[in-house]
Amino acid sequence: MEQATKWVIGNWKMHGTLAANYELIANIRALIPTLDDRVGMAVCPPFPYLVQVAGLLEGSGIALGAQNLSANVRGAYTGDVAGAMLRECSAQLVLIGHSECRAYQHEDDELIARKVRAALDVGLVPVICVGETRAERESQQTQTILARQLDAVFQLLDTAADSCIIAYEPRWAIGTGVSATPETIAEVHGFLRSCLIAKDAKFAASTPILYGGSLAAGNAREIAAIDNVDGGLIGSAALRAEEFATVYRAFLGV
Ligand code: PGA
Repeated sequence: MEQATKWVIGNWKMHGTLAANYELIANIRALIPTLDDRVGMAVCPPFPYLVQVAGLLEGSGIALGAQNLSANVRGAYTGDVAGAMLRECSAQLVLIGHSECRAYQHEDDELIARKVRAALDVGLVPVICVGETRAERESQQTQTILARQLDAVFQLLDTAADSCIIAYEPRWAIGTGVSATPETIAEVHGFLRSCLIAKDAKFAASTPILYGGSLAAGNAREIAAIDNVDGGLIGSAALRAEEFATVYRAFLGV
């Protein structure tokens, strides 16, 4: 997949119906008839809707993403979905390590790193989510946690060949309606960029770092203007076409 320098990605979580998906994509396409090369757009519906949404996106330039994948290639893993299956359903990206998967499905750093490798091995671009809890932030552990989450992934990454997207999603800002402040976002994104540079400067320059956590029409412009913010991972606002389109335009700077 052609890597845009910025990305606006909708994470639909466990929402949608055949009818609602049809309407949402039709409305997004009507509001943004042509994408700008500088800012990619993607939507990540639940697994059962991938094929439907792939059809609805045809000719739009909007990329399709999945919300998770198995670390395994195939086999007796009931309930899991392999990367090759996602590719066959036209997915180009996959969210990995989302805080809801870390929390509710007990995914740890080591498993997340294996999932990133599994995604890359089948040609999916992993959107690697990192973020701290409120307790970790309050005890000044944010950088330690983020560095640990990134380091695990770095172990299995070939930065000369692999293409990734990073998403900073402070757990305390997800679904709360209260995003991180611009100062916090600037500080954390600067830190994440420095971690990437320490690993590989070329990789750091070509890896978008998205912000996620109550990003919506009302704060998108302010967040889009922050250094080292290369797009957004949007939850609830991605379910409303008008709002999602506004966020996209904010990252385009129009
Ligand atoms: P939110 O979710 O925009 O609803 O806070 C973001 C996410 O979980 O990716």
